[in-house]
Order: sequence, then structure tokens, then C-alpha cells
Amino acid sequence: MAITFEKVNFSYGAGTTLARSILHDVTLQIATGQVTAIVGQTGSGKSTLIQHINGLLKPTSGRIIIDDFQLTASTKEKILVQLRKNVGIVFQFPENQLFANTVLEDVMYAPLNFGATKAEAKLAAEQALKRVGVSSELWYRSPFELSGGQMRRVAMAGALSSNPNVVIMDEPAAGLDPKGQAELLNLVQELKALGKTVVFISHQMDHVIAVADQVIVMQNGHVVAQESPKKLFNRDLSWFETMKLDLPKAGQLAEKLRKNGVFLSRRPLTLIELADLINKEVDHE
Ligand SMILES: Nc1ncnc2c1ncn2[C@@H]1O[C@H](COP(=O)(O)OP(=O)(O)O)[C@@H](O)[C@H]1O
Ligand SMILES: [Mg+2]
Repeated sequence: MAITFEKVNFSYGAGTTLARSILHDVTLQIATGQVTAIVGQTGSGKSTLIQHINGLLKPTSGRIIIDDFQLTASTKEKILVQLRKNVGIVFQFPENQLFANTVLEDVMYAPLNFGATKAEAKLAAEQALKRVGVSSELWYRSPFELSGGQMRRVAMAGALSSNPNVVIMDEPAAGLDPKGQAELLNLVQELKALGKTVVFISHQMDHVIAVADQVIVMQNGHVVAQESPKKLFNRDLSWFETMKLDLPKAGQLAEKLRKNGVFLSRRPLTLIELADLINKEVDHE
């Protein structure tokens, strides 16, 4: 499913004296089947933005178009069901998302809610749990007894069990060990191969480079860049300093080398590229 934001503004507490304007004229495009990374400092509006994609939040003005569905300030709750069936979200704090007595029931909730029979929901939940690597010993445990990483996987399974066309993940790598992070990147690639549109929020530029087709950079509720990772990470160093954004590891290492008098002909974006450049361009005595 393709997603378009057209001049979306959003305030928490709109129409009250406590109104806080958060998103400002957000315009962006996400093509079907594309992986999009959203980056930016804490408080820049990333989580607020993604909650518009399934209508959890509605724009104060402007509109969001998801295939033939249109979301505006006046969209009624009732018609959001169809949208929610098609957009799975994993929140930044997955423990807030879990609620059932067992892991399996938790993951069965979405398909049941969208009209599957109990048997169908169970099958879908089991498939989703397997896909995210939650082993069957945990399926009848309380989700609240699990570790943070396991809770995140269960929340992820809950977002996938209704087989949505769009999968949104809010900082899915937070708190995962390197193995968990690698599995997450594999999952993103798997979802892409299934033709799903994936949007994830990340602070890890190496993850962005590894899986994203495009990057959206947020600053103070504004979209300040929307382009390919390759183009973005070749911007001037001063831009990254202003945005308080990191370069991918390889780029950071190349900067360290440069400060020590070792100049490479271009900025490497992966460690393989860095090794390659050093091999070709640095004199070895
Ligand atoms: N429920 C809320 N009510 C009022 N303000 C909020 C709420 N949620 C987030 N905010 C504020 O909105 C701004 C953007 O927050 P958020 O979208 O969570 O940013 P990010 O995900 O980039 O860290 C922050 O200033 C935050 O304090
Ligand atoms: Mg956030």
C-alpha cells in the first residue's frame, strides 16, 4: 500500500488551551513495498507521525492517503477498522501493547478482531510467533513474565498476525542484543520480500543503510529530508552536526581516519566498503 501525507499538521489537545502543536506541514510519500526509515532526535515527532498511519491519531489539518483510504480531521472512528486491519503497528514501548493472559491469546487478538474464526486466528498467531522467533514453550505463558526483548517479539507477532499490508515499527531495535538486531533486519527484509510496505523508526544508521530504500529525517515536527540512504549519508558533515544525527559506523571511522591524516576518496557507508577503500587507497609499507 502506498502512503502519502499532504501538509499534515497535528496538535495534542487540539482545540483546548493546552494545545501543543507537534507536526508542521508534514508532506511525504512512501511507495508500495518500500522500506522507509524515520530518523531524528528524541521529541522530533517520529512516534506522533507514525500513529497517523493507522488513524490512532488524526491530523488536525491536512490529509493522509493510504491507497484509496483518506484520513482527515473529520474521519469517523467506525470506518477506521478497515485501515487498522491493513496497518500493523509495533509501539515504542511494547509492554504497553500487551494485555492478554497468554502470549498466544495476545497475538490472536488482531485476527479475531478482524473477523477470523478461532481456529484461523490460532493458526495465524502461531505463524506470526514462529516468524519472529518466539519459541512454543512461551506461547501459554503470561506476556508480562517475559523479558523486554521477548515482549517486543510478541508485540511484533501481534502486529503481523492479521497479515497487514503495512508494518510499522517504532524503534524496534531498542534493547535488542546484536543477534536480535540481526534477526530484526532479516525480518524487515522478509516482510519486504512478501511485498509489504515497512516503516521503522531508528537511531541506528547502520540499520538504515542495511535495509531502508528511503530515509525521512524529522526535526522539530518538520520533515527536513526525504531521500535514499546513499544520498542522505553523503551530505556534508556539518549537516549531520546540525541535525545531531550520526553517520553509519564506517563513515564515522573514515572521519576519524581523516582527522589522523588518512584521506579516502569518498565516504564509505558500510564496513566492507571502508575495508575496500583502505585496501586500495592507503599505502601499506
Ligand atoms: N500524548 C501526548 N500529549 C502531549 N504531548 C505529547 C504526547 N506524546 C508526545 N508528546 C510530545 O510531542 C513531541 C513529539 O513526541 P514524539 O512524537 O514522541 O517524538 P519522537 O518519537 O521523535 O521522540 C514531544 O515534545 C512530546 O513531549
Ligand atoms: Mg518516539
